[in-house]
Amino acid sequence: MEPQVRLQADRLRVVRGGKQVLSGVSFTVARGEVYGLLGGNGAGKSTTLATFLGFVPVVSGRVVVNGVDVGIDRPAARRAMAYLPEAASLYEHLDARENLRYFLELAGVACGAADIEAALDRVSLAGEARGLQLRGYSKGMRQKVAIALALLRDTDILLLDEPTSGLDPTAIDEFHDLVRGLADAGKAVLMVTHDVYGACQVADRIGLLRSGRLVDQFSAPAGGRIDTETVHRAFSAKAP
Ligand SMILES: Nc1ncnc2c1ncn2[C@@H]1O[C@H](COP(=O)(O)OP(=O)(O)OP(=O)(O)O)[C@@H](O)[C@H]1O
Ligand SMILES: [Mg+2]
Repeated sequence: MEPQVRLQADRLRVVRGGKQVLSGVSFTVARGEVYGLLGGNGAGKSTTLATFLGFVPVVSGRVVVNGVDVGIDRPAARRAMAYLPEAASLYEHLDARENLRYFLELAGVACGAADIEAALDRVSLAGEARGLQLRGYSKGMRQKVAIALALLRDTDILLLDEPTSGLDPTAIDEFHDLVRGLADAGKAVLMVTHDVYGACQVADRIGLLRSGRLVDQFSAPAGGRIDTETVHRAFSAKAP
C-alpha cells in the first residue's frame, strides 16, 4: 500500500558552520495535506527543506520521503519531490517555454507543448510574456515560471521555499488556491513562508520554527482554517 505519510522529519539535528541550526525537529506531512513551516529569518526553514533533499547531512535523526530514508537512498527520495528554491535559477536569455523545456529535459520529464501552456495558464503568466526572454521579466513573473516548473514535475510531494515572495496580492491568492487544489487532489505540500496570513489561508497544519526548534504546531479545525490571530501571536512572541 502507498504510504499516507509522505514526509517525515524525526528528531532532526543539523549543524551548519559549526552551529546547531536544527534541534530535535519532528513533524510529518501526509498525502493531501499542506504543511506551512513558519519562522523568522535564520530559524532553519530552508535548512529543513535541504535535509529532505539530502543537500545537508543530519547529525542525528532521520528524514523519510515516501517511506524512503533520505540517508539510505537519496536519488529515490529526490524523484518523489519537486523543489521550488528560495531563489530559483532560470536562464535569462531563454523565454518561459524554453526554460521549462530545458529544465524538464534535464529532470528527465517528458512534457509536450500543450502541458507547458497548461502549466503557464495555471500560474497565470500572461500569454504575450511567454515568448520573451526572462531578462525582461519582473520578479513575480520569474516566480511564476519557477512554480510552473515545479508543477510540471508532477511529483507526489512539493517542497516550496517562500513561493509567494515577489507575487502581487492577486497572484498570491491564486497561488494559494492552486496549492489547495493540488493537496485536495492528493499531493503533499511542505511550504516555507514568513506570511502568517497566507499560511493560515492554505495550510492544514502549521509548524513554528524558532532558532532551530519546532516550538508550536497548529491544526485547522474540521472544515475550517487555522486562526491567523493565534498564529500571529505565537510568531511574534519573544523567546522565553
Ligand atoms: N550554507 C550554510 N553554511 C553555514 N551556515 C548556514 C548555511 N546556510 C544556512 N546557515 C545557517 O543556518 C541557520 C538557518 O538558516 P536557514 O537558511 O535555514 O534559515 P531560514 O529560516 O530559511 O531563514 P530565511 O527566512 O532568512 O530564509 C542560520 O543561522 C544560517 O546562518
Ligand atoms: Mg530560507
